[in-house]
Amino acid sequence: MRVIIEKNYDDMSLWAASYIRDKINNAKKGGPFVLGLPTGSSPIGTYRCLIEMYRRGTLSFKNVVTFNMDEYVGLSESHKESYHTFMRENFFDHVDILKENIHMLDGECRDPELECRDYEEKIKSYGGIDLFLGGIGADGHIAFNEPYSSLSSRTRVKDLTMDTKIMNSRFFDGDISKVPSRALTVGVGTIMDSREVMILANGHSKARALRHAIEDSISQKWPASALQEHKRAIFVVDESAAGELSLDTVRYFL
Ligand code: GLP
Repeated sequence: MRVIIEKNYDDMSLWAASYIRDKINNAKKGGPFVLGLPTGSSPIGTYRCLIEMYRRGTLSFKNVVTFNMDEYVGLSESHKESYHTFMRENFFDHVDILKENIHMLDGECRDPELECRDYEEKIKSYGGIDLFLGGIGADGHIAFNEPYSSLSSRTRVKDLTMDTKIMNSRFFDGDISKVPSRALTVGVGTIMDSREVMILANGHSKARALRHAIEDSISQKWPASALQEHKRAIFVVDESAAGELSLDTVRYFL
């Protein structure tokens, strides 16, 4: 595991975007580069940097295939808080990615089990995910794999915890009753199968989750801790998020 500790959110975002740019630019010619993507406030800065790189001509997404992590059950693609809308507004509409290369779970699908199975198959058909970018919840969740999710879980429907609903109610007029109760999400196992995983964490509210993910035992209570078993996991964090790591951990990774 690597832990990159940057001064602030902007530096964290630039580090992550530069890493992704280099991976895409150095990808083997021929096959596409398969990128897993998250929503949330953590990756917005990284998306901004990637868009800027595209505008400057140092990066193209023509050879990139994407798979998003998750989507709320019951929200239409055009709902203002759907992850489809988030991705269009914050990323896809601003770069040269081909529409047919974008994959997202359909929150309005008739048969969620089939949708999830097909998603796993689709990922396989591209030879797996090269790099999965993600955020982390204050309770250590990754994608919508809430605490106590199986660490070998695959894409499926998950009930959201009250903590997550409260956190995400900020996007739904502060009204918990408007936050969907379920989501379609890739599993911890799906993320673990990626060749590389990069998790972004910024701000004091993520410090506790980061400590459990990096320093404590692997536990389903803190799903991000599963990444300790991954061969190529990188946490890219700011100083506030690193605030609960012990001094020897910080020294080691610096
Ligand atoms: C949501 C998403 C996660 C995200 C998490 C943290 O629950 N499903 O993918 O990592 O929130 O979001 P934020 O980056 O806004 O703190």
